[in-house]
Amino acid sequence: AGRRPLIAGNWKLNLDHLQSIAFVQKLAWSLQDAKLDFRTVEVAVFPPFTDLRSVQSLIVSDHFPITFGAQDVSEHDSGAYTGEISGAFLKALECTYAIVGHSERRSYHHETSELVGAKAAAAIRHGLVPVICVGETAEDLEARGASAVPVEQLETALAGLPKGSDIVVAYEPVWAIGSGQAATPEQAENVAAQLRAVVGTALGEEAGAATRILYGGSVKSGNIASFLREPNVDGALVGGASLVVDEFAKIARFQ
Ligand code: G3H
Repeated sequence: AGRRPLIAGNWKLNLDHLQSIAFVQKLAWSLQDAKLDFRTVEVAVFPPFTDLRSVQSLIVSDHFPITFGAQDVSEHDSGAYTGEISGAFLKALECTYAIVGHSERRSYHHETSELVGAKAAAAIRHGLVPVICVGETAEDLEARGASAVPVEQLETALAGLPKGSDIVVAYEPVWAIGSGQAATPEQAENVAAQLRAVVGTALGEEAGAATRILYGGSVKSGNIASFLREPNVDGALVGGASLVVDEFAKIARFQ
């Protein structure tokens, strides 16, 4: 449907300052060596906040055609919010994206879908594209099937966003994250199609058709192609495999 696939590497709390500089340089070389056609795929990295500046200076100064974003963003723009990072700060660092509602934040920091929606709205206010994560736990899957919880999470998160907002959705079944047990492509497609319908209802048909929906959860070079063959899956949010340059570069080449 004309959507450029997005391969996004979420480093989580990994890769210190020196490692992240070396990683981005090696990744750019590896993708250039492989003659990756950036018109047909977008590659983005999500370092810890403290390395956004060094990633920015590498990417901007050397014109590597990869994009980057933050792993979270505050719902507030400025003020007495100790420890928070605003969308304005991230935009000034030339971030394209901010992940919101990752399952690790929902579970370890008790983030609700309402808060995730407020963070997505803050990202949009500052010209960032929120990568809105949704997904069911193993218990949810057992009790209500795969799609009920992610659909509800997305409906709530999108409720306050302007029509036509530019967003990315990441469907990450919690049971598949870091477990080595990815969903099947058919399972991912089934939920992705329902999430696309939610975007269409909340943000308008055009946004529904244009929004990229990523699959995340134990993606590696051996299974990426099978996900990308599905009509409603437009890329991947990659955790563990995004920390190994050669593996991540292979994923970016869909092999
Ligand atoms: O944000 C990325 C996901 O949590 C997936 O992590 O690829 O290590 O399963 P994983």
